[in-house]
Amino acid sequence: MPILVRDNYWILETEHTAYACGVGAQGLPEHVYWGARLPFAGDYPAIAQTGDWASFSGAAHMLPAEYPAYAGPSYTEPCLKLTNADGVRDTVLRFAGATVSDGATPELRVTLRDADYPLTVTLGYRVHEAHDLIERWAEIANMGDAPVTLERAWSALWHLPWGGEYRLSHLFGRWFEEWQIRREVLQPGVKVKESRRITTSHTANPWFALDRGAAGEEQGEVWFGVLAWSGNWKLAAEVTEYGATRVGIGLNDWDFAWRLNPGETFTTPASIAGYTVDGFGAASRTLHDYARTRLPHGKTLHPVLYNSWEAVFFDVNEASQMAVAERAAQMGVELFVMDDGWFHGRTVDNAGLGDWWPDEVKFPNGIKPLIARVNALGMDFGLWLEPEMVNPDSELYRAHPDWVIHFPTRARSEMRNQLILNLGRADVQEYLIDLLDRLLGEHNITFIKWDMNRNVSEPGWPDAPGDARELWVRYVEGVYHVWSTLAQRHPQVLWQSCSGGGGRVDYGMLRMVDQFWVSDNTEATARLGIQEGFSQLMPAITMESQVTHMGRPLLSLPFRFHVSMMGVLGISDDLLKWAESDLATGAELIALYKEIRPIVQLGDQYRLLPAQSQDFTAVQYVSKDKAESVLFAFRVHIPEPARIPPVFLRGLDRDARYAIEGFDEVRSGQAWMNLGLRIDLKNGESTVRRITKIG
Ligand code: DGJ
Repeated sequence: MPILVRDNYWILETEHTAYACGVGAQGLPEHVYWGARLPFAGDYPAIAQTGDWASFSGAAHMLPAEYPAYAGPSYTEPCLKLTNADGVRDTVLRFAGATVSDGATPELRVTLRDADYPLTVTLGYRVHEAHDLIERWAEIANMGDAPVTLERAWSALWHLPWGGEYRLSHLFGRWFEEWQIRREVLQPGVKVKESRRITTSHTANPWFALDRGAAGEEQGEVWFGVLAWSGNWKLAAEVTEYGATRVGIGLNDWDFAWRLNPGETFTTPASIAGYTVDGFGAASRTLHDYARTRLPHGKTLHPVLYNSWEAVFFDVNEASQMAVAERAAQMGVELFVMDDGWFHGRTVDNAGLGDWWPDEVKFPNGIKPLIARVNALGMDFGLWLEPEMVNPDSELYRAHPDWVIHFPTRARSEMRNQLILNLGRADVQEYLIDLLDRLLGEHNITFIKWDMNRNVSEPGWPDAPGDARELWVRYVEGVYHVWSTLAQRHPQVLWQSCSGGGGRVDYGMLRMVDQFWVSDNTEATARLGIQEGFSQLMPAITMESQVTHMGRPLLSLPFRFHVSMMGVLGISDDLLKWAESDLATGAELIALYKEIRPIVQLGDQYRLLPAQSQDFTAVQYVSKDKAESVLFAFRVHIPEPARIPPVFLRGLDRDARYAIEGFDEVRSGQAWMNLGLRIDLKNGESTVRRITKIG
């Protein structure tokens, strides 16, 4: 049984892990255990007695509450903060009941009620047994007859086992340099990671991993998790003065408010977390497996694509795209994507956003002839859109200047000459659904890259139906609504989320998208590190990666291909300028990619040697049945005559025999994993080696 119940005490068991909580003497659910699954139900600890420590730190402060609301003499980070209609600003919760439901994904719901006000909080727990993950969220219901203002409503507080110093691994970066991994030992106090940009952001990601300082890629205890939300978020990793460590995660409370009217319920996004003894690599693989189950197109392999952006930027037209399409098809490309520049009035970045119909000069006959040509060449057709945006120089803005996010008394800051449509508004949502539905209905389009090229400013919403600060949440819900309505109506479309590269990558997006554009930086050596950071939380099948001509000196074509073959292979370069020999090399590598694609996109990923700030790196993918594997190795620059390090394979069946391309011997999986491979590469060289089980 994944959920064991005894006297308001619950043990949530997954295949290898367990999470336990129960109602303690103070009438609140308290955290008890999170770690390895234990052999017997009786092994799990009893709820600890929490007493006063001093007149300055009473039991309320010391309590490891599952979902603390701001109440009483407690000074650690709460999950819930609200103001009642009469101005009372605390929330005194008491346990009111719980239900457990079985099924494919068993669920525990624990209901708490305010002692004096008609407010309930239901804590949801879902057990993803096979994935070793627990999903948590909260539902806050106003049962009274006066509105309540929510000021913080987090998804979960994850308590770490008491004692020890924890190290937080997190991601940070900026446009063009996303996904940098940092590991730092938490000190007493609160370490905050957040976004205030209305998207997930390039600068941080709602992903965390905690260890006690000793975990590595393949060994050691790691507690890890994500938040499934695509707007402002906050993560607060707190070490209390008594050495308790916890991670609160949820919607950002910065500038947040939500008027919860009588009879209404506010549901937070979910946070999903897990535990492993097998290091950061296993934490990633756990998330990868789970993510693949959430993808709208499941395990359908993703096509090799061509994208026009790094080739010609805005300079697309019917004749040039048809010519490039010929070459793409010859090389074996399966999906031809026309990026920015195709729509009404778009010649550079200062006009056109919002007017989603073909530009009359570049495409005098619309885009149907191009699509027909692309299809006749045996490829699918995809298009770039940026639905949330509008240029002041557009038909849409001239008709509806009030549709953008703005404060009426302030100048509207433009970034890349554009403003943000307020997708919290129902009329904006309807307009976009209608226009884009027609575009997709009238054209044979199977792929959309949905871009978002700026962050918010002047976050006003004149005439907002509730508190104008609801914008932060209503905007994201509006994006979800528009996008998922279109996705439901056009199930053939594979959606890619892009926000100037990796500015909106998160588990909230997975309800619509199968793919992400991870960074605008396609220089192959920088990309190795960027892809490593992205792989902490997302699987290779979601990572489109393009071969371009970015970088000085430009690395060899095979090196650039090999980097991109570690995700969903794409090419974005002016193929009309490629020599015949380059086209032949490209065709060969695309053919190889198609052979190894099931292993890369659906297999287990092992980061054998780190990439960030390292000059020799290797990544391996292993099919789920361990019959096939593929190794990628890259020597960026190691000065001669230093020796390059051996590569220790992972994930093979220890007792089976494997052959490795380029090696004469056949050895057991265990031997290959223990002995280490010597891969002879020169600076700037890379290799792809197939590994095959032969009995
Ligand atoms: C930003 C994206 O990240 C690029 O790939 C490209 O689509 C441009 N926008 C187009 O404006």
